[in-house]
Amino acid sequence: MKLSFTNKPSKTKLLIQPVFEKNTESIPRALKALFTELLASKEFEAKEGQAFFAWQEKTLLLGMGTVKKITVSSVMESFGSAVKALHRHHPSKVAVVLPESLHSFVQAIAEAITLANYQADAPYKTGKARNKLQTQRIKELEIIVKGKRSDIESAAKKGFKIGDMVNEVRDWVNAPPNIANVGFFEKKAEEIAKVSGAKLTILRKKELEKLGMGALLGVNKGSPDEARLVVLDFKPTGAPENEKPIVFVGKGILFDSGGYNLKPSGHIEDMQLDKAGAAVILGLMKLLPRLGLKHRIIAVAPFTENLIGPTAQKPSEIVKTYSGKTVEVTNTDAEGRLVLADAIAYAVDQFKPEFLIDLATLTGACIVALGHRYAGLLGNDENLQKALREAGDSVDELLWPLPIHKDYAEKMKGQYADLTNSSTDGDRGAGALKGAAFIREFVGKTKWAHLDIAGPAFVGEPKKYEAKGATGFGVRLLVRFLENLHK
Ligand code: BES
Ligand code: ZN
Ligand code: ZN
Repeated sequence: MKLSFTNKPSKTKLLIQPVFEKNTESIPRALKALFTELLASKEFEAKEGQAFFAWQEKTLLLGMGTVKKITVSSVMESFGSAVKALHRHHPSKVAVVLPESLHSFVQAIAEAITLANYQADAPYKTGKARNKLQTQRIKELEIIVKGKRSDIESAAKKGFKIGDMVNEVRDWVNAPPNIANVGFFEKKAEEIAKVSGAKLTILRKKELEKLGMGALLGVNKGSPDEARLVVLDFKPTGAPENEKPIVFVGKGILFDSGGYNLKPSGHIEDMQLDKAGAAVILGLMKLLPRLGLKHRIIAVAPFTENLIGPTAQKPSEIVKTYSGKTVEVTNTDAEGRLVLADAIAYAVDQFKPEFLIDLATLTGACIVALGHRYAGLLGNDENLQKALREAGDSVDELLWPLPIHKDYAEKMKGQYADLTNSSTDGDRGAGALKGAAFIREFVGKTKWAHLDIAGPAFVGEPKKYEAKGATGFGVRLLVRFLENLHK
C-alpha cells in the first residue's frame, strides 16, 4: 500500500471519517447536516463499529463510540470494519481523517487497515476472480492530519510495515503443504538472512543425525521431504558482546496428519496451520532490522511434515532426543512437543539464552480451554510471563496464563523410556498443561515461556480486522515485547 500524508483531503478519493459518539466536533462542516439527519433517524449514531457510507460525499462515516472508551482493540475493530465496508466501492485510493483523539492510536490504525486489506486467496485466484480481488483492495492510502507531525508519520509507517509482515506470515501459514514445503521455508530463511544480516544455519538430515535429534527425525520418518532445523542468529551492531541472547523457537509442522494416530475428517483439513509458530518467528526476524533493537535475537525452527505411510513412525516407538532423554511415542499426533524437544534442547545448549520463548499450535485442548481469542501462556518465569502478557494486551493479541501442575509432569513420565509424549492413563483433561509439562523437561534452568497458539493462530470466526484462516498471531506481540525491553 502506498502511503502519503496531507493536511487536506483530495476530492478523488474515498474518505474514512471517524466520528465519536456525542461529539460533533470531529465532523467536518460539509457533513454536519447529514450527520444530524442520520442521528435523528438513528441510522447512524457513531456507536463503536457502526459504519455508514454516504454516496454523494464518497465518505464512510465510521463510528468510534465515546472518546473515553476507545482502546487499541476497539480502534482496530472499527478500522477493520471500515476497510471491509469499502471493499465493494472500488477503494483503490482511500483517505483517512485522523482526529486529535486518535493520534496515539495511529500505529494500531495502520496495522488494522493493512490487516483488513489482506486477501488469503489473492496468491491463487486467476482470471476474472483475480481482477475482482484487485478492485477490492486499497492500494493508496492518504492520512489527513493537521500540521506536520513527523511522530505520527513514523508511527503510521511502522504500523504499515508490521502489518505487511503479518500479512506475509499469514500467506505462509495459509499456504498448503504442496507449496509451503521444506524448500519453501529454506528459501524464505535465505531471503530473511539476506535482508536482515542474520547468520543463517540450516541443519539437514545428516547433521540432525549426528547431533542425535531422534525426536525430530522420528516425526519426519513418514515424509518424503527431509526435516530441517533452521537457525537465524541476528546480532545488531551495538549489541553488547557478552550479553546472553533471546531465543525464539517455533513449531514448524508443515502438515499434521496425525501420523498413524490419524486425524479424522473435520480435524485434518486445516493442518497446514501447524507451522504457524515457525512462520511467526521467521516473520519477526525479517522485521528486526527495521526496529532498531540492541539485543542479539535467535530464531530456531524445526520443519517437517507429520505423515503416515510405510516408513512413518509408529505408536510405541522409542526415540532418543538431543538432550539424551528417551521418549516413548505413545501417540504420533503429539508430534509438536517432539520436534520442540530437540529444537529447544539444542537452543539451550548452543546459545545459553537469557530467556527462551516457544510458539506452537500445540494442543486442541488449549482451544477447548480458551477458544480462539486467547493463546495459552505457560512457563517457569513469572516476570517473563507478565512482560509477554502486557505486550499482548497492548496490541490486542491476548494471552491467558495456565498452570503446570506437578501431577501432570508426573503423567508425562514413560513406562519404558524416560518420558512419554502423551499420557496413557486415558485421562483426556488438561492437554495444554501436559504438553507444556513435557516441553519443560527440555528447557533446564533457562527462563522459559510457552505460547500455545493453537486457538488464535487460525480462526473460523475472525475479528473485524482479520479474515478466516491464518492471523499471524504473535508477530505484533513479540515486536512490542522486544521494544518494551528497551524501556
Ligand atoms: N497440531 C495439533 C494441535 C492442534 C489442533 C492445533 C487443532 C490447531 C488446531 C497437535 O499436534 C495435536 O494433534 N495435538 C494433540 C495432542 C494429543 C494427541 C496429546 C491434541 O491436541 O489432540
Ligand atoms: Zn498432532
Ligand atoms: Zn501438530
